Amino acid sequence: MRSFLKTKTAIALALTVSAGAAHADGHGGVEVLHWWTSGGEAAALNVLKDDLEGQGVGWTDMPVAGGGGEQAMTVLRARVTAGNAPTAVQGLGFDILDWANQGALANLNDVAAAEGWDDVIPAALQQFAKVDGKWVSAPVNVHSTNWVWANKAVLDANGIAVPTTWEEFTAALDTLKAAGVTPVAHGGQAWQDATVFDAVAMSVLGPDGYKAAFIDLDESALGGDGMKEAFDRMAVIRENVDENFSGRDWNLATAMVINGEAGFQMMGDWAKGEFLNAGKVPGQDFLCFRFPGTSDQVTFNADQFMMFDQGGAVSPEQAKLATAILSPSFQSAFNVVKGSVPARTDVSNEAFDDCGKKGMADLAAAASSGNLFGSMAHGHANPASVKNAIYDVVTAHFNGEYDSETAIVELVDAVSIAK
Ligand code: GAL
Repeated sequence: MRSFLKTKTAIALALTVSAGAAHADGHGGVEVLHWWTSGGEAAALNVLKDDLEGQGVGWTDMPVAGGGGEQAMTVLRARVTAGNAPTAVQGLGFDILDWANQGALANLNDVAAAEGWDDVIPAALQQFAKVDGKWVSAPVNVHSTNWVWANKAVLDANGIAVPTTWEEFTAALDTLKAAGVTPVAHGGQAWQDATVFDAVAMSVLGPDGYKAAFIDLDESALGGDGMKEAFDRMAVIRENVDENFSGRDWNLATAMVINGEAGFQMMGDWAKGEFLNAGKVPGQDFLCFRFPGTSDQVTFNADQFMMFDQGGAVSPEQAKLATAILSPSFQSAFNVVKGSVPARTDVSNEAFDDCGKKGMADLAAAASSGNLFGSMAHGHANPASVKNAIYDVVTAHFNGEYDSETAIVELVDAVSIAK
């Protein structure tokens, strides 16, 4: 109910603001719809705003709060239905393909050709940015979801080394619980539950099993013993969150790790943006490591800006925005702040901190070993209908509505109805 009300308010706001936005567009600016509203996200977005404003392109901000972007996508649908699409919209994976297939997106091929996007943007991203030979969106970054963030002082005080196996991880959780520290900072929202599940499922199923279950939607993988084990592990994690987890925003969960109230958070590397924004230093104040059992794999999601067709060729402002996003200097400056890694393969890792350098190295290694997979939780494995069906089961199980045995039956069922 709460998120429904939030969404209704957001839509009302969107429809009100849009009149002003059309005016701003008329004066040569861009209106950008996005969900980057946390401290770290806003700091990263400012890098883009400043870049554009430096080129004389006005910026009308259209933020829609809600990690993972579900509320933003609801607002977007309302705007498009009202015939008033924003100029540029943050989008993920299959959502981008969906809008492109509906003919809603402008053709960026001229910009892409002039800037050589085909040669520098990795194939894994091109599959979500190019439809029928037409570039329809500008990739900003590559995030990955199978990370753990830890408070170093809390781990040190409790004699905990970075866990590399599930058994070491659960032993660490037990130690923290006994010491009166919340072991896992978590926000009970479906997309956050699914983000944790991305990593947990990968650790149990391995790359082949992850692909079979979430990308190929193979029923025996979705309903097999491995998946049951993944749900069992989610139940263990559920026992290690605090009692106020329900509905908490992801960045407030990150703040619990930053403050030392909690030991760990399983979250994509946008969490790093929160640590940096709080003045924390990787290796000194906080640690980043791959979820135990997934050190060779990467489940990725890439934020992109879809350019909505404004009734003709791509506008000069859209072209400037797209060019700015893919410039190597912007790719470095933005991703250093955001916690993600560049969407181009030719950007130096020099300006990145240790977590960023690791992120870049992991991504390159996973891409060349065939261990790079689109994140189920962040719309890079399946269209929204299937993703939401998986969310429902993962969340119902996490909230104790049914056990793991029932969860795998529900999962097979829900996916087969949704696909
Ligand atoms: C993801 C997005 C990230 C981050 C996160 C939390 O879907 O890719 O950039 O913003 O949501 O809001």
